[in-house]
Amino acid sequence: MMMNNDDIEKTALLTEPKAIEIEQYLKSKLTPKRYAHVLSVRALAIDLTTRYDADLRKVNLAALLHDCAKWMSTSELYDTAANHRIQLDEIECHNPSLVHAPIGAMLAVSRFHVDDPEILNAIRIHTTGSSRMTLIDKILYVADFAEPGRTYAEAHTVREIAYQDLKKAVFEVSRYKIEHLLTKGVLIHPYTIDAYNSALREISEPIHNNL
Ligand SMILES: [Fe+2]
Ligand SMILES: [Fe+2]
Repeated sequence: MMMNNDDIEKTALLTEPKAIEIEQYLKSKLTPKRYAHVLSVRALAIDLTTRYDADLRKVNLAALLHDCAKWMSTSELYDTAANHRIQLDEIECHNPSLVHAPIGAMLAVSRFHVDDPEILNAIRIHTTGSSRMTLIDKILYVADFAEPGRTYAEAHTVREIAYQDLKKAVFEVSRYKIEHLLTKGVLIHPYTIDAYNSALREISEPIHNNL
């Protein structure tokens, strides 16, 4: 099959030396299951990038790097945060599953010399979301939740919504995450609530106050 110019440009972006270097690092550090998850997040994120016209290079690197610290044990995560003076908030101090995100952003800079703030922010908030999510933040947040390897039923639902309405998909992800955390009876990070509130505002009809 002949590749057109767009396909050639896309392939060049996805296989740039930095992306290959990151892939090799991930393959050597992550479990095969986690590595497959990362590749699946990347594939869905790139699909959504084409649909919503986001920056392909940034999305590719953010998706590849989002779980790059996931191989660390809980003590390694907290030690790394302390050694690099990464400020963790109270909830991050109680919930190690949140800490791989800021540590991943730090590794992106220190190990892979990725310094683009948009990429780094997408990595940093990929678990919680936030009140002001960029298009890249939204694509990664949704792709991480809804990639086809996820076994929960909501992943399929969100994947279908994501191609129709990315804002609605962000809302559904934040809603599912909050429901899940409530069921478990654990602390909820304020960014998760912020993501829910701002996504709900974005999908709601504007309220016209004619008084
Ligand atoms: Fe993650
Ligand atoms: Fe992930």
